[in-house]
Amino acid sequence: MEFQNEIGLIQRKMAASIAGTSRRLEILNSLDLQSGQQVLDIGCGGGHLLEELAKAVGPNGKVYGLDTSEDQLKQAKERCNSHDNVFTLHGLANSINLNDDSCDAVVSVQTFEYIKNVDESIEEVIRVLKPESIFVNISILWDYYKFYGADENLNNIIQDTFKKHCFHQMLPMDLTGKLKKFGFKHIKHKPLPLFITNRDNNSPARYAADVMAQFAIQQGVSSDKVDEWQCQLSMAEEEGRFAYTNLPILTYGYIN
Ligand SMILES: C[S@@+](CC[C@H](N)C(=O)[O-])C[C@H]1O[C@@H](n2cnc3c(N)ncnc32)[C@H](O)[C@@H]1O
Repeated sequence: MEFQNEIGLIQRKMAASIAGTSRRLEILNSLDLQSGQQVLDIGCGGGHLLEELAKAVGPNGKVYGLDTSEDQLKQAKERCNSHDNVFTLHGLANSINLNDDSCDAVVSVQTFEYIKNVDESIEEVIRVLKPESIFVNISILWDYYKFYGADENLNNIIQDTFKKHCFHQMLPMDLTGKLKKFGFKHIKHKPLPLFITNRDNNSPARYAADVMAQFAIQQGVSSDKVDEWQCQLSMAEEEGRFAYTNLPILTYGYIN
């Protein structure tokens, strides 16, 4: 999935919602950043986490945001324009324009599942990390990314289409093995479940449904069907039988 234009915009609204805020808090808690440190955010999107990282490392530290999307990087630069210690990098996670052993921490939120060759990108993470440093990743168990309340057949059509939106639907399941293979130690996981029953403004459920709807249309599902699905979800919400579930997993490990 490309995070440009409409999908990029909805993604940034999702990042600004409670779903994004709570993930950023979990990332910051796991990092224990010190003033003057250098941190890289892979797939920084609209830069919401960069802003928080910039405050944590202070003016003597540096924060790098890497993303493939020019659209997202433009938004990230605007968001962080009052922080002189934030730098954006346009590129891919498997070819990072940073020196060896230059980062005290590498973080990534909902990005590694979109990367075809995850192993190559983990090797890049190791190259840029200083010894004894931490990599923190949040990826979603997409099998549990579900909407409840619409007609079952229609709901299945929209949700099944969404399975094509990323390469690795269940990445957290494989991450321990992958990180161990490349020498990470003390690997731990923390589930960050969401159960949301409203679709009002600033509800992650609303933005999640909007992204799924946009993607379904891109994949050739008729806009009539997609509109019908959204209407059914709204009706279910009014009748108190709507729910959206999401199961992101925070994983961290330390490199030797
Ligand atoms: C779902 S968004 C998450 C953005 C941000 N981390 C957040 O939580 O709000 C995924 C981001 O990863 C970027 N991305 C996808 N593949 C990438 C790759 N191979 N290397 C770097 N960034 C990538 C996308 O452009 C997009 O901005």
